[in-house]
Amino acid sequence: MKILVTGGTGFIGSHTVVELQQKGYEVVIIDNLSTSVKEVLYSIEKITGILPEFHEFDLCNEYLTAKFFDNNKDIKGVIHFAAHKAVGESVEKPLKYYRNNLFSLINIMQCMNEHQIKNLVFSSSCTVYGQATELPVTEKTSIQKAFSPYGHTKQISEEIIECSVKSSGIKATLLRYFNPIGAHETALIGELPIGVPNNLVPFITQTAIGKRENLNVFGNDYNTPDGTCIRDYIHVVDLAKAHIIAFERMFNNLSKSDCEIFNIGTGKGYTVLEAIRSFEKVSGKKLNFKFAKRRQGDIEKVWADTTYANNELGWKAEKDIDDMMLSAWKWEVELSNKVKIRHKA
Ligand code: WQD
Repeated sequence: MKILVTGGTGFIGSHTVVELQQKGYEVVIIDNLSTSVKEVLYSIEKITGILPEFHEFDLCNEYLTAKFFDNNKDIKGVIHFAAHKAVGESVEKPLKYYRNNLFSLINIMQCMNEHQIKNLVFSSSCTVYGQATELPVTEKTSIQKAFSPYGHTKQISEEIIECSVKSSGIKATLLRYFNPIGAHETALIGELPIGVPNNLVPFITQTAIGKRENLNVFGNDYNTPDGTCIRDYIHVVDLAKAHIIAFERMFNNLSKSDCEIFNIGTGKGYTVLEAIRSFEKVSGKKLNFKFAKRRQGDIEKVWADTTYANNELGWKAEKDIDDMMLSAWKWEVELSNKVKIRHKA
């Protein structure tokens, strides 16, 4: 059975492609390689033995997207990751985010509609909750005004999908991710930030490996146990598995509505300092960090109530913070070994 994964050479996309192939699905990837590299395809092949079919083009191109679907009529579902996701960049370049994230979604949904492709899994984010007034957040927690254009595109995308499914016969599942981190156990795929990492964990591992001088901890005067922000970190493989479960729920007509929403987190919140301590414990490295001023746009604390996803989807995160940090560290070590080999060659 053929599944389209857009953004399939990206961090979460590539881990989902591996899980899909290992469950016997035939995967086709569309990616414009704007924030990923083609080599990820060969790493996926090393893990699963199967080189995914790959099409390189921009989903904002309506003609190329339509042509792809005309030539691929046997697709049974779409897992849509392709989007820009850097919160800070979205503040500097809002129109780049609105255009890219919304036009690509609209093109995909139009083609699914025309080709009667029924099942859409959409990559949403806990960012839609903003700074929630109640914690942990449930799927019923009210949506606050987005803190960034990135988060706003996720809110608008959810509304576009919710409004479109009724008229189109498409079923959709919106997965609200918390903070995806870590890497595949083979250390062949993982988070591959281009340039200076925006996110905490790649900055931690790059500091520990010596690529960065030190980590700046953005703010230690928040209203939390140690003053640093709280996030619900989830292993990228646990997150990947949730996508397959979500697709199969729709494909097997088990969905309870044409647009279901699930929080995909662990249900545990960790402060930045707790995350750092976990990293130091599993890596044996003392991390060089200092406190800096708060980062604009950061919310103070968020973590998920995952009861609904656990009970309805039958999905539960299995890996803990130490597993996540160790896998991220092993991936960083693997990356640095590759660079050394390349320098020797
Ligand atoms: C986590 C914590 C920072 C870097 C965003 C998006 C989310 C998802 C993940 C796409 C915060 C602190 C970070 C650093 C630090 N994006 N931090 N020093 O902002 O929670 O989530 O990225 O899927 O949708 O909203 O993740 O990793 O950037 O930050 O102190 O160098 O680490 O202040 O408290 P964030 P993050």
